[in-house]
Amino acid sequence: MTAQAFADAWEHARTIDGWLTEDQARVLHAEASAAEGTVVEIGSHLGRSTVVLASAGTHVVAIDPFPDSWRYGRSDTADRFRTNLARAGVTDSVTLLQISSHEALAGWGGRVALLYVDGKHDVVSCLRDLRWTRWLPSGARFLVHDAFSSVGVTLAMLVIAFTARHSRYIGRTGSLALFENEAPGLGDRARLLAQLPWFVRNLTIKVLLRSRLTLVARLLGHDDTADPY
Ligand SMILES: C[S@@+](CC[C@H](N)C(=O)[O-])C[C@H]1O[C@@H](n2cnc3c(N)ncnc32)[C@H](O)[C@@H]1O
Repeated sequence: MTAQAFADAWEHARTIDGWLTEDQARVLHAEASAAEGTVVEIGSHLGRSTVVLASAGTHVVAIDPFPDSWRYGRSDTADRFRTNLARAGVTDSVTLLQISSHEALAGWGGRVALLYVDGKHDVVSCLRDLRWTRWLPSGARFLVHDAFSSVGVTLAMLVIAFTARHSRYIGRTGSLALFENEAPGLGDRARLLAQLPWFVRNLTIKVLLRSRLTLVARLLGHDDTADPY
């Protein structure tokens, strides 16, 4: 991956509404550039992360049912997603499955080179999305957005830390966690658990922002009115 290739991708992606930060987009782009084969993205919304992944030259299967929910959905979300992809020139690199991730998993039958999980954020849905890791070859990577900034996803991370047999925590960029499909050692599990103070800090900031205490949030190093991601 060249720095220029990422800069070009981000030029498009940054104009698309979403929660992925530039640093996180850089990681996604680098991982997608290194992946040999299909990239699966769970949760696409308007295509901010889809554009980043597809700009890395890989084929992306983007999965999102685009429900009419209060937070993400509108009746025209799928159309806006397609328009954003076309503007970025990546339409031909993306296959959209407009169904839920578990429906898609039920009909899936092939190797996945890289998995990106950013779907529904409750613990049950997140753990269900992580079942997609069964299609990753040994040593392949997967990423989870909001791993330490959303209660449901963080609970899923706790379940992984204690029970997963093939999820080795590598590190995080903000709350984007990177894992390898390998047996974790005790140290890997401990490093994942050691991110909990970061989660507590993020949750505290969210409460402060909702309470309009932005100045106090700044004392915790958060110089933004948007939530920490
Ligand atoms: C946080 S947004 C994704 C943001 C996107 N990755 C970006 O970069 O802007 C979560 C998305 O998950 C989708 N979603 C909800 N339930 C889902 C499910 N069962 N399977 C896949 N995606 C789902 C929502 O429609 C929403 O678009």
